[in-house]
Amino acid sequence: MSDTNAENRKKDHIELAFQSQVENVQNDPRFYYEPLLSEHPTSISLQKTFVGRKLQMPLWISSMTGGTQLAGKINHNLAKACNEFGIGMGLGSCRRLLYDDTFFNDFNLRPVIGKDLPFYANLGIAQIEKSIADNQVDEIKKLVDKLQADGLIIHVNPMQEFLQPEGDRFKNPPLHTIQQFLNLVDFPVIVKEVGQGMGPESLKALLQLPIVAIDFGAYGGTNFSKVELLRSSDEKNIAFDNLMYVGHTAQDMINFVNDAINELGEKVLCKEIIVSGGIKNFLDGYYYMHKLNLNSIYAQGSAFLKYAQNSYEELKTYIESQRDGLALCGAYLKVK
Ligand SMILES: Cc1cc2nc3c(=O)[nH]c(=O)nc-3n(C[C@H](O)[C@H](O)[C@H](O)COP(=O)(O)O)c2cc1C
Repeated sequence: MSDTNAENRKKDHIELAFQSQVENVQNDPRFYYEPLLSEHPTSISLQKTFVGRKLQMPLWISSMTGGTQLAGKINHNLAKACNEFGIGMGLGSCRRLLYDDTFFNDFNLRPVIGKDLPFYANLGIAQIEKSIADNQVDEIKKLVDKLQADGLIIHVNPMQEFLQPEGDRFKNPPLHTIQQFLNLVDFPVIVKEVGQGMGPESLKALLQLPIVAIDFGAYGGTNFSKVELLRSSDEKNIAFDNLMYVGHTAQDMINFVNDAINELGEKVLCKEIIVSGGIKNFLDGYYYMHKLNLNSIYAQGSAFLKYAQNSYEELKTYIESQRDGLALCGAYLKVK
């Protein structure tokens, strides 16, 4: 076999070797690197069953946007990627659709995603509380039906609501509202935070509810307290900016969940987790999925947003890198 590029490559290697010293960079302490035990992956299956559906890889697009012109394009790119790569998706808040259908097309993604992949509508706990108080839960059922969604993701976001200039106030503890709601609907429900995660008591309570999954929405990436403070007055910023550093990382939450399931045993009803919030890449995803003692996948929000708002090709290239990276991890990395 001839090696036509050998001369150039050898030249590159000599020139770049000096730039490639890593003596002051810490190695990644999370993995054993085992270079001898596998061929390069070509057709490794990354399939996983999650929320009753078969995914081609353990990846999920976090709930994001809808209701502005750009959001329509972003959502359609994201949905197309779900279809091509066999991954799941949560819609951004569908609150707007409870009042009118102007932006329905931004959210009408089931025809793009296809019928076999997980696709969930999304509402805030404030809307759930209000719909129960107003006897309007049927409107939510109609919404889920109309979107041909599998079920509903409820985001629980007290810090965001408090800091949002036009934010709502909860009249009841979210846990109470979720319990009431679960008695009124028969579609699957997922509960998430929006970038500050949840502590051990909240997770323990959720794990004992008949919900299909918890989506972490952990601290460490997009932070909605910060988003709302950036939309607020200077006075509010000065008074409350410390609140944006409160929360729990994905690693914290994995420890909380693992401890809770040991303690709760048979009482655990929620058996699946979407690890999300500040997940930088496939290496994080691979690590966290191995550390968690429940069936899990990983999700990203802003990372997808970055590519989806440009072109489908950019988004596709990004997801291919996640898929190929995960396959490589499976071949050569053992989680410590
Ligand atoms: C532009 C944008 C809009 C979002 N809107 C919602 C939303 O409507 N409902 C929701 O549950 N989460 C929403 N999120 C939060 C994400 O689902 C996710 O929990 C959060 O971005 C953390 O993930 P990341 O660090 O990978 O971005 C939004 C995130 C972004 C970036």
